Amino acid sequence: MIVGNSKAIQGVFDLIKKVAATDSTVLITGESGTGKELIAKAIHYSAPDAKERPFIPVNCAAIPHELLESELFGHEKGAFTHAIRTRIGRFELAHNGSIFLDEIAEMPMSLQVKLLRAIQERKFERVGGTKTISVDIRILAATNVNLEDAVRNGRFREDLYYRLNVIPIHMPPLRERTGDIPLLIDYFLKRFCELKRHTPLEIDDNAMEYLLAYSWPGNVRELENIMERLVILSDGPVITCDDLPEKIVREVNGQRNSFNPVSASVMNADTRFPVILPEDGVCLSELMEQYEHHLIIQALERAGWVKNRAAKLLKMNRTTLVEKLKKLNITEPNRESEEENVLQSFAN
Ligand SMILES: Nc1ncnc2c1ncn2[C@@H]1O[C@H](COP(=O)(O)OP(=O)(O)OP(=O)(O)O)[C@@H](O)[C@H]1O
Ligand SMILES: [Mg+2]
Repeated sequence: MIVGNSKAIQGVFDLIKKVAATDSTVLITGESGTGKELIAKAIHYSAPDAKERPFIPVNCAAIPHELLESELFGHEKGAFTHAIRTRIGRFELAHNGSIFLDEIAEMPMSLQVKLLRAIQERKFERVGGTKTISVDIRILAATNVNLEDAVRNGRFREDLYYRLNVIPIHMPPLRERTGDIPLLIDYFLKRFCELKRHTPLEIDDNAMEYLLAYSWPGNVRELENIMERLVILSDGPVITCDDLPEKIVREVNGQRNSFNPVSASVMNADTRFPVILPEDGVCLSELMEQYEHHLIIQALERAGWVKNRAAKLLKMNRTTLVEKLKKLNITEPNRESEEENVLQSFAN
């Protein structure tokens, strides 16, 4: 299940739906722990008959280079010293389904040409074999490395990059979609409480503020692990700041101590909000309204559209916020059904 309500994740849901109906090659990029493998599975399992079709993952970083070719394409008996019997490779196993080439940037240069051909023609030979094998597969690849840089540095073939980058899907880091954090926290807390037969747990507002302000270098995986730990360690029913890992509290307190409202507003200002007065002046009230709109939306997204929480972030009463929302005509993006926020159509 993919949880998220941010614009970025909604965009990814749309792409998954469109791509699932085709057999196009997809390249999923994003920092570690952002959910790349989850997206690959979602694409595969979104097809109606997916369960009858194989989803074959290959972690290119985890397999020693000298074994990778045989892992991908298989080998014939006697192809090398330890090849005591014929072995079918992952490309063949994925026939009629999907192959997921994870950490594709780790693919050695020497193998990239063979991979290019397998992707282009869906044809290859087993190591030590002469028979050409054809497969009907979808190719999904993922990496947390910037492949364009790898191409520039001569570590990745440009032609292979273009072959893979047919439909790019980028998973933004969690710190750029803080609106998803409350949803993910709810989801993981419920899941781990059920799994570990723990009484239901809640997070108080102060602890939630810390979790929203933290930078999440390990992204969703880090959040998932922390929620699991909180469920195991907390006696409940409410998780407070005292329960949070020291690392989070220290980082957020550090941010708060160095916070300078003037420089922060200048640094974060969108280019639409000039800080220097233009030659021909500005319409101050209009500009202030835009500025207000911009910050209120950010606060609402970060608060998961819980008005109380957003009002706290803006240091105003809930009623003042509600009046402003009316005046600025801000409404919560359409949440017709929970399905909009959660893509649940795949198994595993
Ligand atoms: N939007 C999401 N909703 C629910 N769970 C998620 C979401 N994104 C990621 N996860 C969970 O977070 C963990 C990490 O996700 P995943 O393994 O897909 O990340 P990744 O980008 O492949 O990481 P890496 O680059 O380290 O391999 C998994 O347990 C996954 O189920
Ligand atoms: Mg992964």
